[in-house]
Amino acid sequence: MKDKRLLITGGAGFIGSHVVRLFVNKYPEYQIYNLDKLTYAGNLENIADIQDAGNYEFIKGDIVDRSTVSTVFKDLNIDHVIHLAAESHVDRSIEDPMAFIETNIIGTMNLLDAARESWNADDGHLFYHVSTDEVYGSLGKDDKFLESTPYDPQSPYSASKASSDHLVRAYHNTYGLSVVISNCSNNYGSHQFPEKLIPLAINNIKNQQKIPIYGKGENIRDWLFVEDHAEAIDTIFHNGQKGETYNVGGNNEWTNIGLIQLLCSIMDTKLGRKDGESAELISFVKDRAGHDLRYAIDSSKLQSQLGWNPSLKFEEGLEKTVDWYLANDEWMSGVTSGSYKKYYEKQYGASE
Ligand code: NAD
Ligand code: DAU
Repeated sequence: MKDKRLLITGGAGFIGSHVVRLFVNKYPEYQIYNLDKLTYAGNLENIADIQDAGNYEFIKGDIVDRSTVSTVFKDLNIDHVIHLAAESHVDRSIEDPMAFIETNIIGTMNLLDAARESWNADDGHLFYHVSTDEVYGSLGKDDKFLESTPYDPQSPYSASKASSDHLVRAYHNTYGLSVVISNCSNNYGSHQFPEKLIPLAINNIKNQQKIPIYGKGENIRDWLFVEDHAEAIDTIFHNGQKGETYNVGGNNEWTNIGLIQLLCSIMDTKLGRKDGESAELISFVKDRAGHDLRYAIDSSKLQSQLGWNPSLKFEEGLEKTVDWYLANDEWMSGVTSGSYKKYYEKQYGASE
């Protein structure tokens, strides 16, 4: 890669903030632009520690707005893109799919078009799309998602991400755009918006509120510490083969109920509660519509070809995560005030 004027989209969100922090600190010679609309999920406090870095600039903007995207490319001479901006929550996609179609599909198209118009195909540029394992659909008991697994998205969210992956590949095949895609499993760690299972449960346990578990809690997810995902993105951005896809996962499958029981026991210790006290808050609620049963990632391609490996054991990462949320009350109060209260009540009923 020659010049490194790098556009990261969605850098005020959960994963994006970890990626922006890693790149700004690790690569002082790169100029990093963070383009983010600051939706309910975007929060500049997530990256307050690097906001004054000399190699970093924040741009508030909507990727659905074609002229914003094309102006950013032209004015800033963008060389490479790491695209994370998205509507990311499955439950919200069931309630209101249109925002997912707009941001995840049209927004990605706008970025691809701007890249195509600005770059010569053979000029060492890269368009990196950060995607999800949910595009592969749901697994049975034993198999795992490979890069060759056929797409079978089940929710409006995963259908929109599948669509954007297809567009990225189409721009590679049709226009010769240099692209790479990674499909990652469930992330956990600091700064995750508490609509997602782990921070929602941590917050409810702390506040002695019920922990809503969909269905029987038997659905399985493969959890990866977010900083390990950021490292994988760094590895793939620098060493990934153009036109390739890499699966990223933690080799760390948990049923939702097993995970919540582990979390309750960590929280009992941290909060000085008697063993089993937090688990009494577990409450089985109506299942998610079209709830995928199991995700599990085979990331051996990334491990064997590019040498990436997850660094943390789940118990260790989960404890670190709990410590962060318990030490950051103000962050949690900030993001759970305002529109989140309405969302929570609509989704789960009024909290007790
Ligand atoms: P998030 O919801 O925490 O953050 C999304 C960010 O995108 C926010 O800062 C938001 O303001 C911004 N954004 C949304 N719409 C925008 C628009 N129209 N224009 C500009 N910015 C906009 O999401 P996340 O969990 O950090 O996920 C980031 C990416 O990684 C997504 O593409 C998601 O599909 C993918 N992913 C997430 C996970 C996971 O477990 N969270 C796993 C695999 C892949
Ligand atoms: O697999 C990668 C995906 O992981 C990402 O692409 C998505 O952006 C990200 O949101 C995540 O999707 P999930 O739907 O798996 O994550 P969520 O935290 O919403 O739910 C995890 C599991 O917990 C899932 O089986 C649904 C269940 N759940 C979730 C919530 C919010 C509950 O049982 N109760 C809840 O209140």
